[in-house]
Amino acid sequence: MTEGISQPDQPETLEGGSKDLFSKFDDIIQMREGLLASGVEDPFNLVMEKVLSPTRAICNGRDTILLGTYNYMGMTFDPDVIDAGKQALADFGTGTTGSRVLNGTYQGHRECEEALKEFYAMDHAMVFSTGYLANLGIISTIAGKGDYIILDIDSHASIWDGCAMGNAEVVPFKHNDVEAMEKRLRRLPEDAGKLVILEGVYSMLGDVAPLKEMVAVAKKYGAMVLVDEAHSMGFIGENGRGVVEDAGVIDEVDFIIGTFSKSVGTVGGFCVSNHPKFEIMRLVCRPYVFTASLPPSVVATAETSIRKLMHGHNKRAHLWENSKRLHKGLTQMGFELGTKEPQSAIVAVIMPDLEKGAMMWEALLKEGLYVNLARPPATPANMTLLRCSLCAEHSDEEVGTILGMFERAGKSTGILGQTSDQSEGS
Ligand SMILES: Cc1ncc(COP(=O)(O)O)c(C=O)c1O
Repeated sequence: MTEGISQPDQPETLEGGSKDLFSKFDDIIQMREGLLASGVEDPFNLVMEKVLSPTRAICNGRDTILLGTYNYMGMTFDPDVIDAGKQALADFGTGTTGSRVLNGTYQGHRECEEALKEFYAMDHAMVFSTGYLANLGIISTIAGKGDYIILDIDSHASIWDGCAMGNAEVVPFKHNDVEAMEKRLRRLPEDAGKLVILEGVYSMLGDVAPLKEMVAVAKKYGAMVLVDEAHSMGFIGENGRGVVEDAGVIDEVDFIIGTFSKSVGTVGGFCVSNHPKFEIMRLVCRPYVFTASLPPSVVATAETSIRKLMHGHNKRAHLWENSKRLHKGLTQMGFELGTKEPQSAIVAVIMPDLEKGAMMWEALLKEGLYVNLARPPATPANMTLLRCSLCAEHSDEEVGTILGMFERAGKSTGILGQTSDQSEGS
């Protein structure tokens, strides 16, 4: 049992007979206990004792290759980025202790927003304290009563929570299905406000949205378009602007949401837009106004990282090589993957069930490899996934080592049958 999480002897009702508010979590508590009873290490409670580089950490006392951190461009240990953070810490202190609209906007927040405007070649940029808050804030503020939000059913939790926080009517459509999206749009009142929400890369399976077609359909029905590029910023597109750039629709989308917690290598979120009235968001968007702004060291690291990502062509090319090689190697071994072809820096390995998935996760950790275990309800179609995210700093040698680890763990857990001779890890 994990410390502080489950208390099986807890009575179901409280003194006076009222229901324990925690009883709604009984199913998940049971699932977790069942999993841990099978003897596997808790996959949701790993501690990194020391982080050595963007691709290595000490976990359980062992040197471990990191393949599940979404640190796509490996900026977390970039010397310029670290120096910028140290300097800001020394010059501006540890935190702003205030909201962006009061005492929480320092020079660094403005400079970070300038870097984002340059990175995307857009007129406006607004930095939030996380990507979660950026989605929560922008979606709930722009789509209100009488408006419609048309969104992919596999949207990230922060998008759904943004919808739940606002008063718009929410109309989901089947994942990445252009026709289903058009069918929903066709039925909506012509004069109503409409916001279509898409993601560039969907993080569970690592698949890319058909943005060219989807944006064209959204525009045909007069909808505004918001694209969350959390998993593509820095990597996809000629300048790393995301799938919107790759698909040639960046000038047609109204809002791009992103995060600093992946390619940028720190924490924070943002929205960029060309909408002429965008700046009013700073006064009306509650998750921007009613929370403290990012510490000066964080915005300084983000700004430096974003400026370096503008020139990250070589890193982008190497990351593509890594992704293609891992995808090909795992396919050849006989693993079932989330996409037939590599579409992003995420390679999702589909597990037969949660128990096997947890066994494989643990076997990989013992080999010295960390990946993300994902399970329902976060995953589509009740899948259990080992989500691998590659980094531009993974060396060729590390990718080879990773393949060997997958092969051994796959065999020892029985998930892989007899591996074909052509597999790269054999
Ligand atoms: C698609 C998507 N949007 C938004 C977020 C939230 O980003 P942050 O970690 O900055 O809160 C994530 C994070 O996992 C994400 O995957």
